Order: sequence, then structure tokens, then C-alpha cells
Amino acid sequence: MIRFCAHHSRSVPLPARSRKGWRRAGRSLRSLPKAKNNGKEATHQFGEAAIDASVSAWVERFIQENLPISPVPSVPEILLHRAGPWSGLSRLAERVEDFGAPYWAYDWGGGLALARHILDNPEIVVGRRVLDLGAGSGIVGIAAMKAGAREVVAADTDPCAMAAIDLNAAVNGIPIVPIRGDLTVVPPPTVDLVLVGDLFYDHDLAERVTSFLNQCLEANISILIGDPWRAFLPRTRLQLLAEYPGPDFGDISRVGQRKNAVFSFEPACRQVHPCRASE
Ligand SMILES: C[S@@+](CC[C@H](N)C(=O)[O-])C[C@H]1O[C@@H](n2cnc3c(N)ncnc32)[C@H](O)[C@@H]1O
Repeated sequence: MIRFCAHHSRSVPLPARSRKGWRRAGRSLRSLPKAKNNGKEATHQFGEAAIDASVSAWVERFIQENLPISPVPSVPEILLHRAGPWSGLSRLAERVEDFGAPYWAYDWGGGLALARHILDNPEIVVGRRVLDLGAGSGIVGIAAMKAGAREVVAADTDPCAMAAIDLNAAVNGIPIVPIRGDLTVVPPPTVDLVLVGDLFYDHDLAERVTSFLNQCLEANISILIGDPWRAFLPRTRLQLLAEYPGPDFGDISRVGQRKNAVFSFEPACRQVHPCRASE
């Protein structure tokens, strides 16, 4: 059972349950007290307000009707609702108040590499409790669950990602718990492994994620990162484990030319040479 601490004296259990039950669990987590970040309220709160149930149902229907299910390039074992040129995602913006960039509708190099790596090396996750941080479509968490993880929580700040994760998990026939919120501003949950797919694309976000990952290491949680060598990757903290050819962000034209990498995140004292992409 994975627990989240809103602060050190309070924790909330997240039991394994039916799809409806997970939604209820998500709602109770959203009612947690607002997290603080160095004394200031964080921009994104763990426990963000739930979107209206009717909007949430409308988003699910929209995804089902406009984002066809297809196998993921380089990870064909996983099926996802994926956006195409005719999906009309801008229509979501008219209906969903907090609508942001719909990252959950696309393939990202980091998630593709990490999902491939996990499916090829299931011993990484077998029997473990896993957090998929910045889950987007849920591809990484889905790979972990398919490979034998005991339990997977998929966290994202985007309300539409919650619907996408729910639907994508169901399409793949596995249970995943979607949680909306910024977990980087609260203590790490009780998991064995944190998986981070493509979260180093923005300077401030990369700093927050790195600081959260440091706390995870202190709590003896292992960390794997998938990333297509983006600018804000904390390279001095990474051990390169594998590289996979594959596309990035809808870029199917560069399959086979691009390298998406998988790293372990290492303690600061163990830093070696900054990682570089292989030729
Ligand atoms: C580039 S996408 C990667 C999605 C997925 N991990 C993958 O590799 O396909 C980044 C995702 O992180 C989410 N995100 C950004 N900041 C976040 C935060 N502080 N906490 C949780 N999710 C966050 C975004 O909403 C988006 O869905």
C-alpha cells in the first residue's frame, strides 16, 4: 500500500481497489492540506482541486472519440490513445478550466526509452511499489505494471492526464492509480522506485524534480530517468544505463537517428563524469 505524506505527521493510505474506488481515493487525496515550498505556497499544489465530474466524464468521452488507440512506436506491447492531426485538442481548452499543453496525448523520447527498458528488464520493477512522476499518458507506469510491479501510482499536474491515464491503463488491462498534483513539493511517498519520463525540459521544473529526487534517495528509493538528452538534465548525477533509438514528441521522421536514454539517478557524492550521448 502506497502512502503519501502531506506533512510528516499525516499520511494517507492508497489501497488497491476497483477503477471507481481509485477515483474516490484520488478525490480524498485532493482534499489534503496545501503543501508549502520553503515557507511559500507552491505554484502547483499536491491536492489540486478536482475538476468537475461532468467535465472529467466529457474529457474521457472526448479522448475515446478523438484520440484513436494505437500501439506505441518502439514499445508496441503498449496501446495508447494518441493524438493525430484531426484530434482537435483545442476543443478541450474551451471546456477544461486548467487546460495546459496536452503532453499526455503524445509520445515523448524519455517515456519511450524508459518503458522499453522496463519491459526488457522486468526485474527492475517486479514486486515493487512504483511512482511514475509526470506520467502524461501513463506509458511508463503502464510498462511497470505490465512488467510485474506490485502497485503503480501515476502523478501529473494536468487534469486531462488523469482521464488519459485511466483510459490507457484500462486499454492495456492493468490497474494504475492516477493522482493529480505536484508531488515534488511534499515528502516522497512510500514507494520502492520512482520512474521519471521526460521531466527535464524546463529549468525550474528540473530544479524542483532534482531536489525531490534527492529526498527520494535519502528515503532509500531507487530512481530511474528516461530522457532524450534535454538541456536541463542533471548530468553529473546520472549513470547511463542504456540508449534506445526512437522518436520524440510526435517526431516519427527521426526514428533510428535519435537516441533516447535511460539513467539511474545517483547520490551527489558518487558523481563521476557528466554523462554524454554516445555517437
Ligand atoms: C514531457 S511530458 C512526459 C510524459 C511521460 N512521462 C512520458 O514520458 O511520456 C511531462 C509531463 O509532466 C507533467 N508535469 C509537469 N510538471 C509536473 C509536476 N511538477 N508534477 C507532476 N507532473 C508534472 C506534465 O503535465 C506532462 O504530462
